[in-house]
Amino acid sequence: MSIVIIRQDDKIESWKQAIHRVAPDIPVYSYLETHPRDAIEVALLWKHPIGSLEPYKNLKYIASSGAGVDFIFEDEQRPKELPITRVIDNLLAADMSEHVIALIFNYLKNLDSYRQDQNGKRWQPTSYQRIGDVKIGILGLGALGKNLAETLVKFGFQTQGWSNSTKYIDNVNSFAGASELPNFLSSSNILVCLLPLTSLTRGILNQSLFAQLPQDAYLINVARGGHLVDADLIAFLDNGHLSGASLDVFHEEPLASTHPFWEHKKILMTPHCASVSDTDSVVPQVIENYRRMKKDEALRHVVAPDKGY
Ligand code: GLV
Repeated sequence: MSIVIIRQDDKIESWKQAIHRVAPDIPVYSYLETHPRDAIEVALLWKHPIGSLEPYKNLKYIASSGAGVDFIFEDEQRPKELPITRVIDNLLAADMSEHVIALIFNYLKNLDSYRQDQNGKRWQPTSYQRIGDVKIGILGLGALGKNLAETLVKFGFQTQGWSNSTKYIDNVNSFAGASELPNFLSSSNILVCLLPLTSLTRGILNQSLFAQLPQDAYLINVARGGHLVDADLIAFLDNGHLSGASLDVFHEEPLASTHPFWEHKKILMTPHCASVSDTDSVVPQVIENYRRMKKDEALRHVVAPDKGY
């Protein structure tokens, strides 16, 4: 009984090795090699080809190797009755917080515009902002959002978050549900999106949301490209309501070279690298779940199918 890894990047071998180090007794295969499909009980996925789960008739559950599971729900050909698990990992959460904090300081201290000035040999000191000058609003207070909120509080940032249900995090103002979104937005100078991508959150970063942010607000999207309406962001950067944006995720990855984001002076792009599952950190929980499944124990980090996260 065994695991298959299905992903389209070049990381299958390193996941196989990491699983082998932790659990040499569990056979693990790449979906690209010859393997006994009927023996596969777990599919460990990252952006798998649509329909690639079809040959596995004895799957017991589907495991995402990252925090997100949106790409699994998007596969209409998946076996829909099976549980889906995701990764909740301290290192993944810490990596995300470090990345977002780097972006926040980059913005407060104008570092990206100085790099642009340097490219043009322009000497242009401008005023900078301090930690106390801004309130950070986090959309989504799940595992990643909560870690970010706690880290921001340690730095002394005024921090607030918005999520489906009220969350209790020390020194973090929690807003919940559609009725509290306007108050949350109107007081968030830097808005960080860490929401799961679901039918309810797709396109949430749109002109109506941007219009509710304070003048000169800054957007950081490190969740999914599908949260953002690209044209609305460009319109609100160009009309001066938003002062800038840092984007790590895009509708299409890699982003087409013709996309206007590449050339936009107010957009800082990174190539979906904010926080990437570390095999050695994540594999122990993959194996723990595998052993739980074998013992008929409840799986950990199971996604609620009706919510999609
Ligand atoms: C990364 O995008 C993840 O979902 O882990």
